[in-house]
Amino acid sequence: MHLKQQFQGAVQVTADETPAFLGTEATDSVPETCHIAKDAKERGSEPSQPSLRRYSVHLLEHGGAELLRTCFCPWATLRDVLYADAVCKRWHRLSREEQWMEMSILNGGVTASLRRALWRHLSAVQNIEQRYQRELGVASATEAFEALLKKPLSQAKISEIERDVHRTYPSHERFEGQEGAKGRAELQQVLQATVTAEPNVGYCQGMNFVAATLLIHLGSASDAFWMLLALLESYHYRFVFAPGVPLLPLRVFQFAGIVQRCLPRLWRHLREDGHSLEIFAHQCVLTLFSYSLEPGLLAFVYDAFFLQGWKAVFRIGASLLAFLEDQLLQMDLEDISHHLHQCKKHLRLPRRNGQLGAAAFRVLLRFDVGLGSLEELESGFQLQRLEVLLSQVSVSGEHDAQAVDGKHSIPFPREWLIPGWARSTAGSSPAGAVGKDTALDYHNQEGVGRAINEAGMREKIFVETKIPGCGMDSTMLNVFKCYENTKRDLELDLAKLNLSYVDLVIVHFPPISSMVTRSCNSWSGGCQMVRAQWKAMEEFYKQGKARAIGVSNYCPSCYDCLNSTATVLPMVNQVQLHLGMGTDPAGIVSWHKKRGIQLQAYSVLGNTAVSHKASPEILTGNLTTSIAKAHGKSSVQVALKWVVSQGIPAVTKSASAEHLSADLDLWSWDFTDEEKQALDAMSSPKGSYSFGCTSDDAKILV
Ligand SMILES: NC(=O)c1ccc[n+]([C@@H]2O[C@H](COP(=O)([O-])OP(=O)(O)OC[C@H]3O[C@@H](n4cnc5c(N)ncnc54)[C@H](OP(=O)(O)O)[C@@H]3O)[C@@H](O)[C@H]2O)c1
Repeated sequence: MHLKQQFQGAVQVTADETPAFLGTEATDSVPETCHIAKDAKERGSEPSQPSLRRYSVHLLEHGGAELLRTCFCPWATLRDVLYADAVCKRWHRLSREEQWMEMSILNGGVTASLRRALWRHLSAVQNIEQRYQRELGVASATEAFEALLKKPLSQAKISEIERDVHRTYPSHERFEGQEGAKGRAELQQVLQATVTAEPNVGYCQGMNFVAATLLIHLGSASDAFWMLLALLESYHYRFVFAPGVPLLPLRVFQFAGIVQRCLPRLWRHLREDGHSLEIFAHQCVLTLFSYSLEPGLLAFVYDAFFLQGWKAVFRIGASLLAFLEDQLLQMDLEDISHHLHQCKKHLRLPRRNGQLGAAAFRVLLRFDVGLGSLEELESGFQLQRLEVLLSQVSVSGEHDAQAVDGKHSIPFPREWLIPGWARSTAGSSPAGAVGKDTALDYHNQEGVGRAINEAGMREKIFVETKIPGCGMDSTMLNVFKCYENTKRDLELDLAKLNLSYVDLVIVHFPPISSMVTRSCNSWSGGCQMVRAQWKAMEEFYKQGKARAIGVSNYCPSCYDCLNSTATVLPMVNQVQLHLGMGTDPAGIVSWHKKRGIQLQAYSVLGNTAVSHKASPEILTGNLTTSIAKAHGKSSVQVALKWVVSQGIPAVTKSASAEHLSADLDLWSWDFTDEEKQALDAMSSPKGSYSFGCTSDDAKILV
């Protein structure tokens, strides 16, 4: 039907109810009528809400969405849309309301006074409030909030929240100093009520920033609390904050995928170190940009999020990076992570009279992201996981076969020597005692175990093994089962080795969340995973199945997770350490020394995960070769000796019997003071002691 006919039909049916401001002109052509309506509005003759609603509903019923959009869009305000809720509901289904609201947001149309109504409308929070009111038997949402606050909560939980409340926007007027006491108390209430309402999600760092942002823009603690619940329920934030952060890896994957599509050059640049993009994505997703943007701008970001859900996160994230692209492309990798971490400081968004407005919003919604792309990325993510699983199955068989087929010239394929280990730890065995460093995820236990047993050398060999960090290996994918799976893997590892005990077992790396947050923390579920794994490790140790237990690639924050729960602390931390990194990289050597935890070095020859080859700077560099020549040794021996002479046992590997025996000859000679000083001062090859986290990880959210 022609638009004009549709419109006339609507008016005929509703002649009595046609809003007065449309007058008799309503039966004229649609554009003309809309024009008259707009004029009337500009003159201030606004329709009353009931008549607006009636008029809109009739337009929808008799004229259809097209007509409504033609007439309604040009002159209605956001307020009209919000109040004409019947229209909104139906229009929403036609996905036009969304477009219109986006226009309104982009034009700075959401005023502070309207924001609460907009967020409530979009999140349908009143349904959640009503449900709680029924369950708690109270008459209002505020009473329900107060009733939740009266429920008991453990002192440990209260203190955990309290600690973070003091670190949330510490310089924002709402939370700063004496005047901020009320704001902090309200934030504490919002978080406590949330934990009580959602005990399975609990409290998680990151939530404090989101709650504080809501509090700043909504005003009351009760409103902020209900909106936080709406985020958990209606926008799936529950699965972002729950222990093990189950939704986070997918969202981070999608984030990176969108950046790859929108900003291919920057994506390649950021991917060179593999992690900075993921860390940034992690921060944006977990705190809903609260860590990356200033609170004023966040109001708009949250408008867009409540309207579009996750799509807004990817749009804003990619647009933010586009805005910073020129700066980032000029930086080296270290500066990039710092820059992104402090991104708030570097964003110079357009302002008018000192205020962020429509122009800034347009910058932040520069890219569009289709649902189709997100679904495609989701499938890609699932496929990638399946491929990991598949590859583990086939690789496992191949390694086992290699381990026993005698292909290698040494008895233990993929075996690892531990020069200096016994000297540094037990002190009683002769220097250069040999150990085997194996791991469940190296798939070589059966060969190693068989060889040790056949040679009858068990007591002479220090057997070290590893089980994967939670969430990373095929056997540990279920982050909710870190304890059970660690227990199972420990037993499996021992059974595969066919030994009654191992000398040392270590957790190979921190849990999956730390690979992106660069930290073990409870807001990403990392601490919960660390604790669960360590509980299983302690039990294994107490049963006498391991003489010592330890970790690998752990950073200070990972130990922090264990402070209140561990009964036995980690005895060893295996980390990357080699010439070029200095004697105390990132302070980790002194940190561990102070706490009596033995460091053990891997990649001592500067082997990188990419090349799998010893570093040429160490093998053929001027300094190492000249020192080697002076002592009649090899540069590899110089590199190994430099590590073990600091009291740090070194783990290396070789497929050559000749290399293996040379690698053990580290005690018959010594460096001169000058040589030692020159080696200490080497600044290349660069290394990073852990691929799982960083030493300044504790500061990540402070
Ligand atoms: N915990 C962790 O996350 C982690 C990570 C990486 C490695 N690691 C452990 O560290 C150990 C090995 O470390 P890595 O893989 O990084 O290797 P690396 O010890 O830095 O270097 C090994 C390379 O050095 C060469 N090499 C050894 N002795 C040599 C000699 N005398 N002359 C010339 N070349 C020599 C070997 O080649 P040839 O075979 O030709 O001799 C081998 O390719 C393993 O036990 C592994 O488990 C642990």
